[in-house]
Amino acid sequence: MPGRPSPAAARRLALTRAGASRIAWADGQMPVLTAVRERFARELPLAGRRIAACLHITAETANLVRALAAGGAEVSLCAANPLSTQDDVAAALAAEHGAEVFGARGEDRAAYERALRELIERAPQILIDDGAELIVCAHAGAGAAADGLIGATEETATGLVRLRALEAERALRCPVLAINESLTERIFNDRYGTGQSTLDGILRATNLLLAGRAVVVLGYGSAGRGIAQRAKGAGAAVIVCEVDAVAALEARMEGFEVMGALAAAPLGEIFITVTGAPDVLRREHFELMRDGAVLANAGHFDVEINLAELAALASGPPREVLPLVDEYELSGRRLHLVAKGRVVNLAAAAGHPASVMDLSFAAQALAVAGLAGEAQRRVPGVHAVSPAVDREVARLKLASLGIEIDTLSAGQERYLRPYGRIH
Ligand SMILES: NC(=O)c1ccc[n+]([C@@H]2O[C@H](COP(=O)([O-])OP(=O)(O)OC[C@H]3O[C@@H](n4cnc5c(N)ncnc54)[C@H](O)[C@@H]3O)[C@@H](O)[C@H]2O)c1
Repeated sequence: MPGRPSPAAARRLALTRAGASRIAWADGQMPVLTAVRERFARELPLAGRRIAACLHITAETANLVRALAAGGAEVSLCAANPLSTQDDVAAALAAEHGAEVFGARGEDRAAYERALRELIERAPQILIDDGAELIVCAHAGAGAAADGLIGATEETATGLVRLRALEAERALRCPVLAINESLTERIFNDRYGTGQSTLDGILRATNLLLAGRAVVVLGYGSAGRGIAQRAKGAGAAVIVCEVDAVAALEARMEGFEVMGALAAAPLGEIFITVTGAPDVLRREHFELMRDGAVLANAGHFDVEINLAELAALASGPPREVLPLVDEYELSGRRLHLVAKGRVVNLAAAAGHPASVMDLSFAAQALAVAGLAGEAQRRVPGVHAVSPAVDREVARLKLASLGIEIDTLSAGQERYLRPYGRIH
């Protein structure tokens, strides 16, 4: 008779079960990725391919990994952000879906960098990245790891900025598909996914009422638009701060207050940075903010709120007043920082809802299969995802909703073809 499992083994088993249940729950919200996984299992478009992914280790990512593995790939995974890792999901992925997983919630920078190197040492042929750190790591030193790559995909705007800089220096040695710029991402992921989950993170951490509250959204790009719209929908008085005149005008025409960040600083009760730029909120803004103001960041890196300047202004070290809320005392005023300025929808909530990630990861999986299937290697550089991928994802999603749409008649096609407006 086998003996009782040790306490450590029992904890591990409980963690694995919890993760498996979370993955199954997300799977139920991901009909498009399920359809892709089933197709991959039949067609094996990734047979024998080694794929390394640096993504947030969440239940939705686990289902992407399952789809890639069903397509025949050998997958290794590390965390794009130490605060977003769901340890139970990592345990279940490794135990039940055969993926190699590196990453634990809250790991330090050294562990994170070790994990990147571990993945690169496995000589991957395709990289899936969220922030470009894995792709940059493959290019480190002599960049030999980059030479073995068929290609890569990048999830974020911030990652693409880094990759385009590499490309401009002629240092990018593989083709990279700009997943972030596909229609699927821009419309569904950023607008609806980031919009809802950013507010979710702030609300879970603070339990504040949004109705009637002044919410300042800094950055009115794809993600900022979603946050501003959802906050308005919840009854907040939304102020938008922008540096781009067109985006600022668009925000104004959507009915938002638009002003510079210095003007917004004394008015706001919740500030959300989502620009991709550093030091968007800094000393001069903190000095003007009212007592009790809440600061959160939805941008990819924790550089948008200048924490060094916030700490320098404070009379003492920050005090954790709630889990994930640090209070800084500034000559009689208190400022509340959520999730240490890290990406709030992942650090304080569960990231994008599964039904949004369904579209995003189905597009990723189809794009990766496209890369793997190309007989000729694409030239190094940042490339757009084929619009056919967006259409296929939308078609599968509509089918899962039981929605049928019209098609052009032959006459309409003939009429529209010269204008290139055939879908
Ligand atoms: N948390 C998430 O889930 C999530 C999702 C999507 C994007 N992101 C991240 O959010 C950031 C923005 O992404 P995006 O796709 O919206 O980018 P985007 O390029 O579409 O928009 C960024 C906007 O910020 C504005 N901006 C730049 N500097 C500014 C400043 N100092 N003050 C005010 N506005 C400024 C730009 O003019 C632009 O309109 C990136 O870091 C991206 O990686 C996070």
